[in-house]
Amino acid sequence: MRTIIEPFRIKMTEAVPITSREHREKKLAEANYNVFLLNACDITIDLLTDSGTGAMSAKQWAALMIGDESYAGSNSWHHFERTVKKITGLKHVFPTHQGRAAERILASTRLKPGQVVPNNSHFDTTRANIEFVGGVAEDLLTDKGMDLYADTPFKGNMDIAKLEDCIKKYGAENIPFGMITVTNNTGGGQPVSMANMKAIKSCLAKYTIPLVIDACRFAENAFFIKEYESGYSDKSLLEIAQEMFALADATTMSAKKDGLANIGGFFACNDDKWAEDFRNMLILTEGFPTYGGLAGRDLEVIAVGLMEALEVDYQRYRHATVKYMAERLIARGIPIVRPPGGHAVFIDAAGFCKHLSAADFPGIGVVNALYIEGGIRAVELGSVMFGKRDADGQEISGPRELVRLAFPRRVYTQSHFDYVIEVLEEVWKNASSIPPHTISKQAPFLRHFTAHFTQGKQASSAKHVNV
Ligand SMILES: Cc1ncc(COP(=O)(O)O)c(C=O)c1O
Repeated sequence: MRTIIEPFRIKMTEAVPITSREHREKKLAEANYNVFLLNACDITIDLLTDSGTGAMSAKQWAALMIGDESYAGSNSWHHFERTVKKITGLKHVFPTHQGRAAERILASTRLKPGQVVPNNSHFDTTRANIEFVGGVAEDLLTDKGMDLYADTPFKGNMDIAKLEDCIKKYGAENIPFGMITVTNNTGGGQPVSMANMKAIKSCLAKYTIPLVIDACRFAENAFFIKEYESGYSDKSLLEIAQEMFALADATTMSAKKDGLANIGGFFACNDDKWAEDFRNMLILTEGFPTYGGLAGRDLEVIAVGLMEALEVDYQRYRHATVKYMAERLIARGIPIVRPPGGHAVFIDAAGFCKHLSAADFPGIGVVNALYIEGGIRAVELGSVMFGKRDADGQEISGPRELVRLAFPRRVYTQSHFDYVIEVLEEVWKNASSIPPHTISKQAPFLRHFTAHFTQGKQASSAKHVNV
């Protein structure tokens, strides 16, 4: 059959708020033009993130009921640990309340000020946690990966020559570990090939630098490898994931993505000293090492979810959904990153709003227009998220201006996506009327979450520097 159907049927429904344009205009102004500050009851289709927003399966709900809430050594912990070990093969497993908790403890236990961590592209929380302890986060994507429109597979690959240069520049002794993010969320949700992961591993191993996989979307990455990398079509997603993790010395994971859970994460590693340091900090800030800030029921849900994410029918449907929307947007001439990634469609906001410069935050303009037009919530991955204001008050722009429409897992149907396409078409027709935005208030870290904006150009006295 040509149609790839949702490999599930719906047992429970949740009402979607339908609102008027006047209502949305009022709410957006009250939220200071930052959709993070809107309430969910004012959103019709929420594509802000695929993180923790998925629907659980009947098996996960059933598992939740047998959650063992014992403080130490619960049955649910053992189920969780067994599952993580089965997939990753790593020796020590620690639950955390979400991915960034694993990143924070990893950074605070392994990094000294001035030390460097290379990655294909650091996610915002990874970068922030590295910078928070005085480290330097280096992005080493291939040139093809940085070209939004190069329609080639595995655009999440790291450039091995850039990795070699980075090691030579800073010295191996100043690189306590290297990372690879699968799939590469910041760079458009693009996958990393097995061949590239092997090349990264052997490059780092030459200098005895450990490899840490940011594994949030490991199962989606495994599906890309199965589909597009030769030699993998007959392998199961579990086998491919095991091969990926066999290259890793450690991994950080947000179970809110390919754990198919609403909360949770973990860190896993082979080194006993790393484990000891991680355990001590985990106890101090998250909880006892067999629950790490999670309830026993959460551990059960994640254990089931990790295995469901590796079901090939589920991944086939998920990738087909992203492709369905991407093909229709391309047909309408809407500029999107190609090929589409695994969990989202990324709009090129600079191409969408040709009348705006990076200083006008075009991504925020597109995000806000989508909300006003159809109650859709998306997220900017551009100069607000990845730019910053320096000590002199100058805005330093990010490397690109993207808007991400992330797909919650197992939540929306095809007609929801048809609606999103229609709304986008309307916004695209009127793109030239999207106004510039200015930041009127911001936090020192991860400013996009809480920033306030006003519509209109920034005061001429404020400077803007492009990088
Ligand atoms: C690639 C990547 N790494 C790390 C994280 C952080 O995970 P969490 O939101 O669970 O803290 C995310 C979340 O979106 C991510 O996409």
